[in-house]
Amino acid sequence: MACAGSHSSSLLHLLTLLLLTISLPYKSLSIRIPDHVSTSIRNPPPDYPLKTAVFALGCFWRSEAVFGCLNGVVRTTVGYCGGSKLNPVYRSLGDHAESVQVEYDPKVINYNQLLEVFWASHDSRQVFGQGPDVGNQYRSVIFTNGTEERRLAGVSKEREQLKLRSSVVVTQIQQLGTFYPAEPEHQKFELKQNPFLRQLMGSLPEADLENSSLAAKLNGYAAELCPPRIQKQINAKINDILRKGWPVLRDV
Ligand SMILES: *[C@@H]1O[C@H](CO)[C@@H](O)[C@H](O)[C@H]1NC(C)=O
Ligand SMILES: *[C@@H]1O[C@H](CO)[C@@H](O)[C@H](O)[C@H]1NC(C)=O
Repeated sequence: MACAGSHSSSLLHLLTLLLLTISLPYKSLSIRIPDHVSTSIRNPPPDYPLKTAVFALGCFWRSEAVFGCLNGVVRTTVGYCGGSKLNPVYRSLGDHAESVQVEYDPKVINYNQLLEVFWASHDSRQVFGQGPDVGNQYRSVIFTNGTEERRLAGVSKEREQLKLRSSVVVTQIQQLGTFYPAEPEHQKFELKQNPFLRQLMGSLPEADLENSSLAAKLNGYAAELCPPRIQKQINAKINDILRKGWPVLRDV
């Protein structure tokens, strides 16, 4: 039932190379990590209204990574949406779709831009699955809240259909119902597979990863799903930290 792994190993290779270059054994990075950084890394309450969008586009580990890396996305949460089963869980999600809830700052990124990323990040023609993942839980859905989102989603779907000509876009546009957050172990899943990045963040407790914008970004970075410019920017930051042995990665 778990999503097929899509972990690429080239990031690990890069990191290993970096470590070898500065000849530090993995376990003893000479980075001075303060004991208590977690509070400083928690997001302060925003003083502007954030907006929320929900999408389903296959395995939610990957979906979260895709959106988390975008500038303007403040927080991501994976969960279950679009079905009728009450209180779904990973091993028993009923008729829900694996989904990602994206909280974003509309002054930096808008709904149309999120829709573009949605279409570009999966195959909207695939029936009953996504990539190697087979099953109804991996279906493609745009969950809309209100008439404006519904309109924008509809227009973007028509555009996508025109682009794909004879293939049928099977993406559903569905009114947003209850979004059930998934179990903690599924949040920032890609980042959690990468102890090196966790260490660079000052080994933030797992619970604190959930609301962290930095964790959302690094989760995308770990999966190598950031836009190339951002992927490069984070590479540079990490290089810099490794060279200086300081500080902890607090923002990217
Ligand atoms: C839908 O949008 C309204 C207005 O923007 C917002 O107050 C509400 O919380 C949203 N509902 C959900 C389920 O996100
Ligand atoms: C994350 O934020 C939500 C909503 O603001 C809050 O209910 C939850 O307790 C926070 N989780 C952590 C681990 O801080």
